[in-house]
Amino acid sequence: MLKNKKYRAVSILAAAFLMVSCIGCTNKADSSSSVTSGASESDSQAVSETSGESQSSQPEGEYSCSKYSSMTPEEITASLTLEQKAAQMVQGAIYSVNNDDMAEQCYGSILSKNDPVTETADDWTKIIDAYQENALRSDAAVPFVYGQDSVHGVNYCIDTVIFPHNINLGAANDKELTYKMGLAVADEIRLTKMIWNFAPCVAVSQDPRWGRTYESYSSDPQIVNDLAGEFTKGLVEGGVIACPKHFFADGNVKYGTGESDAENTRLIDRGDASLSEEEIQKQLDIYRTQIEAGAQSIMISHSSLNGVKMHENAHYITDVLKGEMGFNGVVLSDWESIHNIQGADDLKGQTIIAVNAGIDMLMEPDKFSECQEYIIEGVNEGLIKPERVDDAVTRIIAMKKNAGLFDDPYLRNIKTQQSATGSEEYRDLARKLAEESLVLIKNDNDTLPLKKGTKIFVTGPAADDTGVACGGWTRTWTGVPDSIVGGKLIDKATTILDGLNEIADEYDLTIITDESQADQADITLLCVGEYPYAEWVGDSASINLTEEPGLTENEEAIDAAQKLGKPVVTLIVAGRNVVIDEFKDNWDSIVMCYLFGSEGDCVANVLTGKSSFTGKLAMPWYSSADKIGTDDKWLDIGYGLNYK
Ligand code: BGC
Repeated sequence: MLKNKKYRAVSILAAAFLMVSCIGCTNKADSSSSVTSGASESDSQAVSETSGESQSSQPEGEYSCSKYSSMTPEEITASLTLEQKAAQMVQGAIYSVNNDDMAEQCYGSILSKNDPVTETADDWTKIIDAYQENALRSDAAVPFVYGQDSVHGVNYCIDTVIFPHNINLGAANDKELTYKMGLAVADEIRLTKMIWNFAPCVAVSQDPRWGRTYESYSSDPQIVNDLAGEFTKGLVEGGVIACPKHFFADGNVKYGTGESDAENTRLIDRGDASLSEEEIQKQLDIYRTQIEAGAQSIMISHSSLNGVKMHENAHYITDVLKGEMGFNGVVLSDWESIHNIQGADDLKGQTIIAVNAGIDMLMEPDKFSECQEYIIEGVNEGLIKPERVDDAVTRIIAMKKNAGLFDDPYLRNIKTQQSATGSEEYRDLARKLAEESLVLIKNDNDTLPLKKGTKIFVTGPAADDTGVACGGWTRTWTGVPDSIVGGKLIDKATTILDGLNEIADEYDLTIITDESQADQADITLLCVGEYPYAEWVGDSASINLTEEPGLTENEEAIDAAQKLGKPVVTLIVAGRNVVIDEFKDNWDSIVMCYLFGSEGDCVANVLTGKSSFTGKLAMPWYSSADKIGTDDKWLDIGYGLNYK
């Protein structure tokens, strides 16, 4: 019940924020409190006062960083003071770094807020321009880079296309379209100028009780390897900085080992993975593919491997990733994750351990300035070798140089395929991927495809909700249902119901939503699902549709559909293969839709047979939570029906 409240609290807060245009918002560690610091005011000012075009006094093409043009990353690094180098090694959150801080310190990077977004691509360009102007005004004059999580489209910007989540892409298993999605996401990112993308998540999720299951393509490392490689290739060729995550074994964490937090809600997230050498190699192979695909950065996992937190795992970060595997990009820590390093009990000690383990930049939303100071102290006290700092900064500078930031810090000259976000072309791509990702689980009596002339009673809490269909990492960190927002979370998105209404004439369907007329229908289309969540917020012991995070209205809708006595076609909109054992025999057809994103007409297209079902499970489906991880699977990877 506590958890129930937590879901609601996070979302109600999110909804409240959606109503206002704010820059400073909430922070993950304390998602129930709003942080409105001086940063907010100054950033808001920046948005209104700084145009996307040049506010800089330099002539076009000439910037203070032009002094570095002919220098190598090593030479640039050598020209910086220790304080300036340490500033490059930290990444604060937008709500805590203000423009004055940037002008004074020239921080290496800033990352996006994790709560409600109201900004357009143009707004982001202006915000980023303002920070850049201040970075270039600083003594170091090294361009900063803006990072964010476009894990299924540019989710921190309005009017973008929200693609299906990775779990859908695994079910679609279409390498070519996944590559094209990488290109498309890169293109929409470039329109915002937030060019460092913390994606793809290459977790090989093993346990559906994990709240990040939907961020994983598959439980099969080969599928993850193939698809993540294509996505990264698309991102990189599309001109953004990719950041595969989370190195490594984040998806192999064991249920019950979740990292402790104040509310004890992490059942599995950030836990421990016990892996054999052979299993470790399979994980590393995925990162080898990422490096080959051109990944310029890699994020470390919050989790631990065989008892050692990855953020302090010098062997795998330095000896293996940077050494044996030859990765010469930037290693980034995850959100405040160095705070959980076990080898020290204060942040200074943890900072020193993290840097010495081989982490080049510290994602420290609030404590960036302290960490900068600890790096300086670490060097001055002989606890961090100056060469380690030089290596980190050289990597950071090389990444920025290769991204073109030294030549074109405001990214004014970058080319994009589309002139604005949310293009029809990218919507078509997202829709195609979504269609390919829907898995037909059961189809007794050939209930599907819908026959011409059918009268359909459409019911259930997932029928008409863009927030539920998009899931976590959509406009807010956890995502939020439309029912809480009080309107569509994604304005231009199509819901399942919208799609049916659109196709109704062509297929001579009658769509009934009024319960009092339900008995006139030929079939019931029952749409159930999960409440959106991210990370540990989605950890669930039972993954039963009628318990959290199943939508509260699921149970009533399931019962009502049963009572109507018509054939039931059930659509499940969820981030994992939820337990449905007690209901499945009552349902004539079942379609697993996962989190298909903003193009919800994909569902009507396959239900009518306009498009065919090609999706196959990329993760096993268990009939109860106690069977997870055993060979006793209800359905295995590769399962999926089609129409005869
Ligand atoms: C997540 C990462 C994400 C980062 C920044 C972390 O808590 O684990 O996947 O990239 O936050 O939002």
